[in-house]
Amino acid sequence: MDRKFSVSPLTMVVVLAAGALFAICIGTSTVSAQTPYEIQVPLGLRPAPIPADNPMTVEKVELGRMLYFDKRLSKKKDISCATCHIPDYAYAEPKPVSEGIDGKKGNRNAPTVINTAYMSTMFWDGREPDLEHQAGGPVENPIEMGAKMADVAADLNTIPEYQKRFQQVFGAPASKDTITKAIAAFERTILSGNSPYDKFVNGDSNALSPKAKAGYELFKGKALCITCHTPPLFTGASFYNAGVGMDKKEPDLGRMKVTGLESDKGAFRAPALREIANTAPYFHDGSVKNLDEAVRFMAAGGRDNPNLFPIFRAMPKLTPDEIDQLVEFMKALSGEYPVVKEPKLP
Ligand code: HEC
Ligand code: HEC
Repeated sequence: MDRKFSVSPLTMVVVLAAGALFAICIGTSTVSAQTPYEIQVPLGLRPAPIPADNPMTVEKVELGRMLYFDKRLSKKKDISCATCHIPDYAYAEPKPVSEGIDGKKGNRNAPTVINTAYMSTMFWDGREPDLEHQAGGPVENPIEMGAKMADVAADLNTIPEYQKRFQQVFGAPASKDTITKAIAAFERTILSGNSPYDKFVNGDSNALSPKAKAGYELFKGKALCITCHTPPLFTGASFYNAGVGMDKKEPDLGRMKVTGLESDKGAFRAPALREIANTAPYFHDGSVKNLDEAVRFMAAGGRDNPNLFPIFRAMPKLTPDEIDQLVEFMKALSGEYPVVKEPKLP
């Protein structure tokens, strides 16, 4: 826990109280005075794009935080976003694949919410464009939260505290639109940077151990990793077939389900690698438990299959020492991110 930092409810209250002093009026007259939210961008990242129709305010982020933890967003009121994207597990989950309503299992591992503010596509197959569109998905997914947004909204609108907060933030009651906007605003505050890697590339030559430095050279050099895992997020947000799970009887078709293209069969978004040491297990199906095994799999060019992305066939053979160095570099991508606590829910 040493490198993480926590946002306690108390800090939030202090921020809220301080912010109220400088409250300004945004948007239409129906929306109450709100405090613009100043995102603390960690070393190594730039400010993330904020959609024009969903500006960040302290009040909205706090509402989003409540909704992120609120199990009333699920049909049986027993699952929240935080059930699968667990702050103490770097906003991912330690299970290979998610278990949702009635313990139903999906076929994909929950990716971290960290730095999704920067993603131009959502999910392993990129089927949604942004956080606003993404957040409705799990609520209505029959094997995740299994609810209907209209029912969830109606339920929240019976709770006076939520009534008040939705009115204050949006000048409108809870709805699919306002719920997803508030959650998206909250997610945009979950950033990780200021890692040993960031300190190193910003001039602190001692921030990486010699082993991690050697790993960095391999990563951006002969091991070819940087082709698909591009800084600063360590993903280029493109889709590749690495052969993961392609030996299954009914493999997950991945990107092909979105585009219908045979050439996208078994292709998944190259995952972002920040905090990668804290988000085991690995790959879209959570099939690999350890980071060194995941790195070995990648360095060996994935698993052969007819759709394997060509670069994987060109991967150079690495020695066990070189694999170690790459793993050491992966660990240097762990920095600081807010471990948000569950707020008091109304
Ligand atoms: C039952 C477990 C479960 C719950 C509950 C859940 N998620 Fe997810 N989440 C997943 C899985 C699994 C994926 C990957 C699905 C895929 O790629 O098809 C995912 C993907 C995502 C992504 C995309 C990340 C990326 O890198 O593309 C975001 C963001 C996200 N979830 C946020 C949320 C929010 C917000 C909620 C609550 C409204 C939520 N999730 C509820 C399991 C869950
Ligand atoms: C041709 C593009 C490409 C190259 C080159 C590549 N990767 Fe990947 N990487 C991917 C894709 C795609 C996945 C996800 C595969 C899946 O789950 O089906 C992945 C997954 C990973 C994962 C697991 C991430 C997670 O969240 O589960 C790690 C770690 C990783 N790569 C490290 C590396 C390293 C180290 C190298 C260099 C030796 C490398 N990759 C080279 C595309 C690439």
